[in-house]
Amino acid sequence: MQKRALITGVTGQDGSYLAELLIAKGYAVHGLRRRSSTFGTQRIEHLIFGESPSLHLHYGDLSDGNGLVRLIREIRPHEVYNLAAQSHVRVSFDQPAYTADVTAVGTLRLLEAIRDVQDDTGEQIRFYQASSSEMFGKVVETPQKETTPFYPRSPYGVAKVYGHWITVNYRESYGLHASCGILFNHESPRRGETFVTRKITRAATRIKLGLQDKLFLGNLDAQRDWGFAGDYVEAMWLMLQQDEADDYVIAMNELYSVRDFCEQTFSRLGMDYRDHVEIDPRYYRPAEVDLLLGDSTKARTRLGWTPQTSFAELVDMMVEGDLELARQEAVIKGLPAGRKAA
Ligand code: NAP
Ligand code: GDD
Repeated sequence: MQKRALITGVTGQDGSYLAELLIAKGYAVHGLRRRSSTFGTQRIEHLIFGESPSLHLHYGDLSDGNGLVRLIREIRPHEVYNLAAQSHVRVSFDQPAYTADVTAVGTLRLLEAIRDVQDDTGEQIRFYQASSSEMFGKVVETPQKETTPFYPRSPYGVAKVYGHWITVNYRESYGLHASCGILFNHESPRRGETFVTRKITRAATRIKLGLQDKLFLGNLDAQRDWGFAGDYVEAMWLMLQQDEADDYVIAMNELYSVRDFCEQTFSRLGMDYRDHVEIDPRYYRPAEVDLLLGDSTKARTRLGWTPQTSFAELVDMMVEGDLELARQEAVIKGLPAGRKAA
């Protein structure tokens, strides 16, 4: 029997990689999309257009509980992956109540919908919650693992702690097969352009081709454990294939600073980041997370999860992707770099 999966946040970075993975595994994949004045489906166009569209999209929103119940009743998924969120940490300081409603209470609405439908049909629905290393915030130990206490430092981090604990609570209270992946930062050429890695690769490649001069950043000393999103969605799927639901840290177990990311990106393009990067205090956060370093031993041992992409390969992949975008832009603007590359 073909398995059915529902992905919330399917239009986002992780949603697009997870949809590809599940389709390759033979799932019928359904995705929740928000209504917007633009299409917003750039990352998944290859899955929804063409001769054999393999991804089925449904309008919905984590703020609309009744809609979620109706959708789950209609699809009757075997697996639900909750990737939808207001996911930007800096923005969560500007929109704290909205972030709480979507990222925290939205998770509760989805769990309630699953519980209702599962009770009615008697068919198990497995649940994945996109928890975050941002929950560790002002870290109380390093590296961080599943047992490390949370100390969130942003409205987003606080909302994710709620989403995490309500998922654990529904597992313990109602026996739901509900797992949380505590994922450390993961990036790709599909990463949103306002997250720091993509902001750097996008700007550096545009600077290289003469499309801009400077890159304005905030705290260059923040340190993160960066992996490739394509590797991390495999871990999500593995969690839902286990007999018992559980929580897992997913990380590379390696630490780099924002400055390191700048240095590596610009040097690949034959430039020195110090000639182009300037600090703009607007990008500082009211409370910063200085260091996140994961220990993913549990996932590697119990799930057999192994990331395939190194930090250097990740930077290369993102630089290549953005160089191509910058070349296209140069062609449109009639710049010499565009003509040479065209
Ligand atoms: P992303 O690119 O920002 O995607 C977020 C997705 O959520 C988008 O599809 C967005 O739709 C959707 N969304 C936002 N508000 C919604 C609402 N009210 N109702 C329904 N959908 C809504 O994020 P990502 O990097 O793929 O991350 C996926 C999940 O993992 C998020 O929950 C994030 O918080 C979490 N996470 C990410 C990382 C990371 O490093 N990437 C690490 C740990 C945890 P639109 O396209 O319409 O905006
Ligand atoms: N976005 C951004 N823009 N960050 C900057 C900038 C800038 O101009 N300059 C410095 N930074 C620093 C931030 O202060 C932060 O310490 C670090 O770069 C990483 O910022 P982001 O790339 O925005 O990621 P994040 O760590 O805050 O959050 C991401 O990872 C979380 C997992 O720990 C998001 O994907 C979250 O959704 C995710 O949960």
